[in-house]
Amino acid sequence: MTDSFIPVLLGTARPGRMSEAVAHAMVDLLQRRGTDTDLIDVADYPMSATGVTDGADVDRYRELITAADGLVIVAPEYNHSFPGELKLLLDTDFAAYRHLPVGFVSVSAGMMGGARMVEQLRLVALALGMVPVSPAVHVSKVREAIDDSGGFLQDSLEAVATTMVDELEGLSHLRSAIRTVASLP
Ligand SMILES: Cc1cc2nc3c(=O)[nH]c(=O)nc-3n(C[C@H](O)[C@H](O)[C@H](O)COP(=O)(O)O)c2cc1C
Repeated sequence: MTDSFIPVLLGTARPGRMSEAVAHAMVDLLQRRGTDTDLIDVADYPMSATGVTDGADVDRYRELITAADGLVIVAPEYNHSFPGELKLLLDTDFAAYRHLPVGFVSVSAGMMGGARMVEQLRLVALALGMVPVSPAVHVSKVREAIDDSGGFLQDSLEAVATTMVDELEGLSHLRSAIRTVASLP
């Protein structure tokens, strides 16, 4: 058991989304290494416009992000970018993201693995004050990527996901130090 809380943010609400299985695989990976985690599902926070929460419990989202020591975002590539609902949810806070280590898992049905989406989301994360780690998990041909028990079928995906979480946990300790020096809450 580590002392970090690293939730997994599932960034699409599309009915039939394959990214959900990938998000569960990441939750499973974190739990197997003893890291405290939770699934934050963008579908639980319906928003029709920036600042229009349509009854979504955005305070709950903020609580989870404020408690987080790191964040994994799992999202598909839609027209070379991230889903709009993910951006709407991310835009509900600012301060809670400061120095928050973040890692990206992209999902696609094709061969590209959503890499173009990650490059765009990385810029958004920087604008929010997060600290993106370099290793990213690119899940191509998602229908063939998850095994019957819900884990990653390919060792290479499991390996890069592990490296990514290693870096998130390492940076979370630096974040604590920065917050102390900078007298941040
Ligand atoms: C609106 C939309 C746009 C998409 N654009 C892309 C794309 O740019 N690149 C890509 O590889 N796949 C694209 N896809 C296919 C996704 O890779 C596919 O839906 C995959 O299963 C991951 O997304 P999901 O979690 O919604 O299932 C798109 C799918 C939708 C619904």
